[in-house]
Amino acid sequence: MEGALIARDKVGVQDFVLLDSHTSEAAFLNNLRKRYQENLIYTYIGSLLVSVNPYQELDLYTVSQMQLYRGVNFFELPPHLYAIADNAYRVMCNEFNNHFILISGESGAGKTEASKKILQYYAVTCPTTEQLQTVRDRLLLSNPVLEAFGNAKTLRNDNSSRFGKYMDIQFDFKGAPVGGHILSYLIEKSRVVHQNHGERNFHIFYQLLEGGDKELLGWLGLERNPQKYAYLIQGRCAKVFSINDKNDWKIVRKAFSIIDFNEKDMEHLFGIVASVLHLGNIQFEEDSNGHAIIRDGSQIKWISKLLGAHLSILQEALTNRKIEARSEEVLSPLNVDLAFYARDAVAKAIYGRTFTWLVNKINGSLANKVGFLSGVLNKTVIGLLDIYGFEVLDTNSFEQFCINYCNEKLQQLLIEMTLKAEQEEYELEGIEWEPIPYFNNKIICDLVEQKHKGIISILDEECLRPGEATDLSFLEKLEEKVGDHAHFVTRKLADQKTRKSIDWVDFRLLHYAGEVTYCAVGFLEKNNDLLYRNLKEVLCNSKNSIIRECFLLSELDNRRRPETVATQFKNSLTSLIEILMSKEPSYIRCIKPNENKEPGKFDDFLIRHQVKYLGLMEHLRVRRAGFAYRRKYELFLQRYKSLCPATWPHWHGPAAEGVERLIKHIGYKPEEYKLGRTKIFIRFPKTLFATEDVPVPLVWDLLASVLDGTWDGGRSIKLEACWRGALARRAAKKRTWAVQTIRKFINGFINRKKPLCEENRDFVRLSQYHYLMKLRDHLPKNVLDKSWLRPPSILEEVRGSGGFGRGGGGPCLVAMCVHIPGCSFSHQLQQKVVTSAVFSGKKEGYLESLSQPFLETRLSECSKPLRASMLIPARCSQYVTPVVKYDRNGFKARERLLVLTQSSAYVVEMAKIKQKIEYSTLKGTSGSHCPRLGPSCASSLRFRVGSGKEGTMVFTVGPEPQVFKDKTGQLTVVRPQLGPGRHLVLPPLDLHLQRAQPLLPTRQEVTTPSVSPA
Ligand SMILES: Nc1ncnc2c1ncn2[C@@H]1O[C@H](COP(=O)(O)OP(=O)(O)O)[C@@H](O)[C@H]1O
Ligand SMILES: [Mg+2]
Repeated sequence: MEGALIARDKVGVQDFVLLDSHTSEAAFLNNLRKRYQENLIYTYIGSLLVSVNPYQELDLYTVSQMQLYRGVNFFELPPHLYAIADNAYRVMCNEFNNHFILISGESGAGKTEASKKILQYYAVTCPTTEQLQTVRDRLLLSNPVLEAFGNAKTLRNDNSSRFGKYMDIQFDFKGAPVGGHILSYLIEKSRVVHQNHGERNFHIFYQLLEGGDKELLGWLGLERNPQKYAYLIQGRCAKVFSINDKNDWKIVRKAFSIIDFNEKDMEHLFGIVASVLHLGNIQFEEDSNGHAIIRDGSQIKWISKLLGAHLSILQEALTNRKIEARSEEVLSPLNVDLAFYARDAVAKAIYGRTFTWLVNKINGSLANKVGFLSGVLNKTVIGLLDIYGFEVLDTNSFEQFCINYCNEKLQQLLIEMTLKAEQEEYELEGIEWEPIPYFNNKIICDLVEQKHKGIISILDEECLRPGEATDLSFLEKLEEKVGDHAHFVTRKLADQKTRKSIDWVDFRLLHYAGEVTYCAVGFLEKNNDLLYRNLKEVLCNSKNSIIRECFLLSELDNRRRPETVATQFKNSLTSLIEILMSKEPSYIRCIKPNENKEPGKFDDFLIRHQVKYLGLMEHLRVRRAGFAYRRKYELFLQRYKSLCPATWPHWHGPAAEGVERLIKHIGYKPEEYKLGRTKIFIRFPKTLFATEDVPVPLVWDLLASVLDGTWDGGRSIKLEACWRGALARRAAKKRTWAVQTIRKFINGFINRKKPLCEENRDFVRLSQYHYLMKLRDHLPKNVLDKSWLRPPSILEEVRGSGGFGRGGGGPCLVAMCVHIPGCSFSHQLQQKVVTSAVFSGKKEGYLESLSQPFLETRLSECSKPLRASMLIPARCSQYVTPVVKYDRNGFKARERLLVLTQSSAYVVEMAKIKQKIEYSTLKGTSGSHCPRLGPSCASSLRFRVGSGKEGTMVFTVGPEPQVFKDKTGQLTVVRPQLGPGRHLVLPPLDLHLQRAQPLLPTRQEVTTPSVSPA
């Protein structure tokens, strides 16, 4: 570690944060140059990596280098891609969260190389199994295939990615790569039919011609000479010395076999590639009517064969356009220009869609099948974003507009997640902070993408509006709608000086990375991306399975206009940003050192420009003014708690206080750190290195003595034995508990039909619990609904007794259920009260419409004499029921009437009130539990009589219900015999009214042989 730190200072600084004059651009460039000239291409700004393209093979990417960086702390070794990759990986494994690595920079700066190297790093260093080897190989080999179809030689880069790529590498909980998924963005289709001078078409065309064997070329009708194909020679550089097409072809062929492509797939895929070449060679000439006809029929025959399309229909589709007039379809012949246009449109469409098919097919082969089969779907991902860099060409078209818009969006993401987020975090954590100004490019993103007002919306409007819309009318619309925007200029709007550099068909955007002048010609056409309907029909009916998958018949039925290219791109970018925002970021900023792809050449001007637009100086200032490292208190404490006796092995207080104790113990100086609300902020990386280097006093001592042999082996064995013993005991306890629980359940099940006893008690409770939980979700909808869920047979006796039953179950359950969230009983009751207030006394027949419960026990007109004699107020509601009163002393039976009014209860004999109990004098009411009887057993209830004497009541079973005083003088209650296996729970036998002195036995005094749990 010491060594690494010293090495770090040998050539400039390895972290720009350590620069003395961190605000000086010159110092920044100096450091970058010094290191670059020593082939030190990587430098940090905190945790961000700056990489300068070396344009030469460096000895930096060997397996031993990978092993060196594996699992080592971020700042311990010289800066490297591998450190970034390893750091993201380790945090992912420790914190089980998702990450992405955003690789940005202009075209040719080394983004794709960086992403490939990271992928290789994971492939080599992550744990894997034999089963996962295939996944690893597929992840690696998906690259050459995608590059063959999606990369091309441009002026800036011999292997320029002409599509955006975001790849998720999926890891299982052990950190092994188990799958992947690729999202691709806007392939540059126009390249298929046109290339600028010094540029090539996509690699695959040249690879096929160079590498494909004779037989294959013969089958495809191709010649081994790119010069023969119009689509390959417009850039006049079909052969490039830095590219070995023959070799690359071999790699691609091998990759295809590994990523699950069968012979049929390959046949159809190369059939499409060859068809594009044949299409490019089709020439049209005018017939006598000025209509286009195909000059030489040989090409079209090959296309018809390879795409499995009918020759004459294909021929007709290329030279005519189908127009729908009312319900009729009319063929309108094309002129030569339109025929060329239709030809190119087909070539672009089939290539573009085949590329999307290819990505999907690769995704199928990368899908995490291992996890899926074994049910382990928990995974975390690291996303690699390698997307086209900011591009300024001599003529910038629609593609450059989209690419640069994409870069604006990614810059915005970086601002949101670093500069802005960093400053907001300090604010949130209550850390003192001096704000750093930075250019927020949101204003440019808005200029491009805002709804209704942005350039994309204006372009779409022009594409979709009826009438003669042209690229020029689009330009006028732009001037009209965004002409006053500070980042938009046209020739008409520019001042005298600027005017000269802008053409009449141009518009210029002042991007965050600099000015770019776009030529509006072709914008409408490229945005519309139309393919004539009859050509689409031909493709939908193709016998080539890939083409058929790419052009679905349903598309023909869909009369809605498809989304424009720019809008599709905008939407896919928005979802990409969403994907990225949900993950932890790491950044690699790639710099291109010169325009000539020359090793060792450091072009100051070019690099200064990139440093500026990549916002590196701002990033450095924010980092420097801020803190190099921050961590939540809990995580920091977890990692370093072993450094302080007070926090090891457990800290029981708040984590923040633990961290405070810990850093005091280690001896942090006040200027080295700040304590926020939830995190500790460490200003310099060196403080963190030092913390990592502090010897762990407790665990360390133990370990050291093991290593140097002074550790007493006997003690270590004893310690190990103790620990193993503790683990085994814990496991045994858990097993015993499990056995007991299972046994109890089985016992309960076997004895479920017995009366409630020790063996089945828990089982019954469990059944009750499940029944009630089920009932909770299936309660009757209203009070009149009697459809109570049928209880299981084990609870039958409860049902029969009115506990849950159909008839009497309602009130009991309602009482239980009013506490259950979601039950609407109380709500219904409220509604009834309101209804009563509204209709009572006002609506004729209201009373008749109500149900009249307890009608037969109401004191009716016919009982008038009784009421009169008792002088019970007539306005009160009264209820009467005959009862038999048993004397406490001799159990003599006496006929009585029990009258209940709203204020009192009366015991009446004939017309004479024997007892009046005013409710106001009552302390409460109680209902004793009656004993539950089995089919043949008897039970008894003891109670106290007046002055300390005891009486007994016997409950038994007999042929018919009876209550009598038996020979011994006890009161005997007989209930009829029930069928076998059925029990009865008697309803509460003695509802008694408690006064100051209990009249009848209290609950505690009752001895019961078995008590119903209900
Ligand atoms: N780390 C590297 N080591 C060696 N050569 C590199 C490295 N990075 C980039 N290059 C060279 O630069 C070229 C362009 O890099 P590439 O990653 O394709 O750029 P980008 O994807 O940013 O457009 C590569 O083809 C390769 O020759
Ligand atoms: Mg690239």
